[in-house]
Amino acid sequence: MKKVLTTLLLAIACLGAGAQNQATEERIGDILSQMSLHEKILLLHAQSKFTSPGVPRLGIRQLSMSDGPHGVRAELEWNSWRSARWTNDSIVAFPSLSCLAASWNRELSALYGSAVSEEFAFRGKDVLLGPGVNIARTPLNGRAFEYMGEDPLLAGEMAVPYIIAAQENGIACCLKHFVLNDQETDRFGVNVNVSERALREIYLAPFKMAVDKAHVWSIMGSYNYYKGVHGCQNGWLINDILKDEWQWDGALISDWGGTTDTPQATFGGLDIEMGTYTDGKERESPFGYEDYFLADKLEALVLSGDIPESVVDEKAARVLRLILRTSMNPQKVIGAQCSEAHYEACRRIGEEGIVLLKNEASALPLSLDKCGRILVVGENATRSLTEGGGSSELKTRRDISPLEALQRLGKIDYAQGYYSGNPIYDRQEQLDPSRQEALMQEALSKAREADLVIFVGGLNKNHGQDCENGDRESYDLPFGQNELISRLAEIQNNIIVVTFGGNAYATPWISKVKALLHCWYLGSEAGEALANVLSGKVTPSGKLPVTFARRYEDYPYVKFGERAYPGLRDVPATPNSAGEIPSSQVWYDEGIFVGYRGFEKSRCEAQFPFGYGLSYTTFEYGNASVKTESDSVRVTLEVTNTGAFNGKEIVQVYVSAPGAKRKDMPLKELKAFAKTGLLEPGGRETLSMTIPFSDLTYWNETTHGWKAESGTYIFSIGASSADIRQSIKEKILF
Ligand code: BGC
Repeated sequence: MKKVLTTLLLAIACLGAGAQNQATEERIGDILSQMSLHEKILLLHAQSKFTSPGVPRLGIRQLSMSDGPHGVRAELEWNSWRSARWTNDSIVAFPSLSCLAASWNRELSALYGSAVSEEFAFRGKDVLLGPGVNIARTPLNGRAFEYMGEDPLLAGEMAVPYIIAAQENGIACCLKHFVLNDQETDRFGVNVNVSERALREIYLAPFKMAVDKAHVWSIMGSYNYYKGVHGCQNGWLINDILKDEWQWDGALISDWGGTTDTPQATFGGLDIEMGTYTDGKERESPFGYEDYFLADKLEALVLSGDIPESVVDEKAARVLRLILRTSMNPQKVIGAQCSEAHYEACRRIGEEGIVLLKNEASALPLSLDKCGRILVVGENATRSLTEGGGSSELKTRRDISPLEALQRLGKIDYAQGYYSGNPIYDRQEQLDPSRQEALMQEALSKAREADLVIFVGGLNKNHGQDCENGDRESYDLPFGQNELISRLAEIQNNIIVVTFGGNAYATPWISKVKALLHCWYLGSEAGEALANVLSGKVTPSGKLPVTFARRYEDYPYVKFGERAYPGLRDVPATPNSAGEIPSSQVWYDEGIFVGYRGFEKSRCEAQFPFGYGLSYTTFEYGNASVKTESDSVRVTLEVTNTGAFNGKEIVQVYVSAPGAKRKDMPLKELKAFAKTGLLEPGGRETLSMTIPFSDLTYWNETTHGWKAESGTYIFSIGASSADIRQSIKEKILF
């Protein structure tokens, strides 16, 4: 017993400073000391598709998990991906995380985390699988809609309030997908080759913020390989960086089916194995949960002395901590499902995430009484965009489509214009060209009779669009929409384009349309949020979390060829300790020059730059002040609403380091941002933003550490990355 206790205390001591609650830690030690090896190992693997067991003998409850991140997924069967056919699991679909990121509003992120976690609590869940902070390196990533853009600071800052608010309700977030899961093409087999500097400064940075600032309770490993080892069992990433260097005290959960080897997963830092292929409880299957890599196989290796029991103790302690924080947390809320407050949160987040990209001659807001005959064209005016897309699919109780909401405002005609087939599986080439042509002709002839056309299209959740396990097939809008918009514009010059979609796309018709609004995905209240912005009830205030390039070729990695995306197949490699070889290799040759950092380096003008978004009103920036304090820099300025509408403004602070002219330094990087509250015409607000010195460092590949460089920094304050209003020099000595 003494030996067990010493091992336990050691294991707990190893958990480091992050483990804050002494009483909880003592309780974990006490529980562990009473558990058999078999019971500890039970904690480390699934007992169904989405639950892992507790220890009933000791009154330790199980963990119940669910996707995430935009609402609670409909209930699935215990052992399969089939629907459980519940009739009481319809929920509120919240806007996509790309929409939340576009709001640049931390308060809305907290509102999101609070509301969505209440739905999880009500459904008896403990772990919310999300949010995701993988970086939008390519506009083709099929899951970009579940992430928060191309900039690590924005993604991290927007994830933090969501996580804190959810965890305050006793629901753990499981931050996805640690790390480098930035494409869906060959997601299970691709090995990512990336410089240490880009890994640290770009890809790990938002995860680190969530660990440091939100103390996220669980993190999901990624499928892809790094240094030839899968993300879920990668000791460099999980043990060395996440657990040792960052002193993270949470539990690392595998992505579903992301575990492949017992010793590698055990020593690589995995704490809970989920989703390994099994029919489990249906006993006729030869493969059950006890056959998981972190189950009987692990027990045998501990019993034979090949794996020390202390490694199991360390994992079990982390899982117990997660259980005590969630399923056994006396403060966990009861929650609510489909409450009016949740619909309201959904609408508010949606309204603020919509980005106005063009507004010629103040075409928007619409003066509905003066618009004449309005025709809405486009499948996304009526299509459910909450179904499909993969694991983030949602079954909603009540959705308001754009067409429905617009028809409430007045008499509006509709033509579908194009079709896209089955939500999940129909590929573009399977669509019937004659049906497509007929739909286009119908829209064109109705457009001739209209005074205003509102086109509502974009991407959807079909495979090959915004959908898991495959990337987008093209940077263009799908289903013939480019041609349709251009043809509509030929016969009707009063045309407003509204798009849904998780990422950037080409806009070759932009000069022919009056206005463009990009809505990401807006969830259950899509129509309401959109109609409020179109009608001017709400002034748009979102700004882009990604760069919209003019041409696909302009994205920074494209010039490096297929090796930089989507990767090369069958590259010879040495098998890892589990005997596996990646099926493809991708090289992030652009290094840290991702998104706007790359566009600015090559002086390539974007169609719509990072951080860009218009308003119905105008804002004036007062003179900013930049003050160096003991360990940070404070930027302060006053913003005044100088236009005729109520509105909110997002101010961005980009920093150029002393070496910005060097080849290896970005010209500038986002280091702070703030959004005003709702300002009436003439209203003003003082914004104050703090940049800690630690955010002014860069990763030095020679010393393998962060380096602060004393010298003159330039603080550029702007309305977007390409609209800098003031630049202030400040000498900083570290
Ligand atoms: C996805 C995860 C998801 C899990 C469970 C995986 O395929 O990559 O994001 O949480 O399935 O549905």
